[in-house]
Amino acid sequence: MRLEPLRRGHLRRCVEIEHILFPGDSPWNARAFHAELDAGGYYLAAVTEEGELAGYAGLAVAGPRGDRETSVHTIGVDPAYQGRGIGTALLRALLERADELRAPVFLEVRTDNDAAIRLYERHGFSRIGVRKRYYQPSGADAYTMMRQAREAQEVAG
Ligand SMILES: CC(C)(COP(=O)(O)OP(=O)(O)OC[C@H]1O[C@@H](n2cnc3c(N)ncnc32)[C@H](O)[C@@H]1OP(=O)(O)O)[C@@H](O)C(=O)NCCC(=O)NCCS
Repeated sequence: MRLEPLRRGHLRRCVEIEHILFPGDSPWNARAFHAELDAGGYYLAAVTEEGELAGYAGLAVAGPRGDRETSVHTIGVDPAYQGRGIGTALLRALLERADELRAPVFLEVRTDNDAAIRLYERHGFSRIGVRKRYYQPSGADAYTMMRQAREAQEVAG
């Protein structure tokens, strides 16, 4: 398994995986993925030895240089490949990018998504709020989670 920049050619499979992972929560269509790439988001693909797309993740970056803010917009692993460390590898790569930018990271996660919440907590995220009925059409609530920006001196040290 290797991580590489997400390419337009991966998007058909991304959309299929989205529909498996988020059936009741408005899975992204191809247009949504294209818009994220057009906006210059930091998107990665996890690709198997056989060249199959096993997972994807993306970090959106906002704000002026020196005062960046980032958000994990999506992270998904094909159920056939879950539980093998791919989600962890994707998240770590996004966090490395955020750390290079010295930027905090925000995300939303369903309040009942224990696997994802544990993964985020292990990587320095904490819950900072609840968004009621954030996901549609399911009406599920989300936690907003945040990971602090890495301090400049911590990077240097
Ligand atoms: C969350 C997700 C990206 C993790 O990807 P992954 O490749 O399975 O992750 P890893 O193998 O690195 O494991 C990360 C943790 O999730 C746990 N996990 C993975 N799949 C799981 C599952 N189906 N059920 C319960 N726990 C699971 C792992 O056990 C591990 O936790 P642990 O170290 O405490 O045991 C993946 O489960 C997924 O795509 N879920 C659906 C989409 C989603 O919820 N995305 C996040 C939206 S905010």
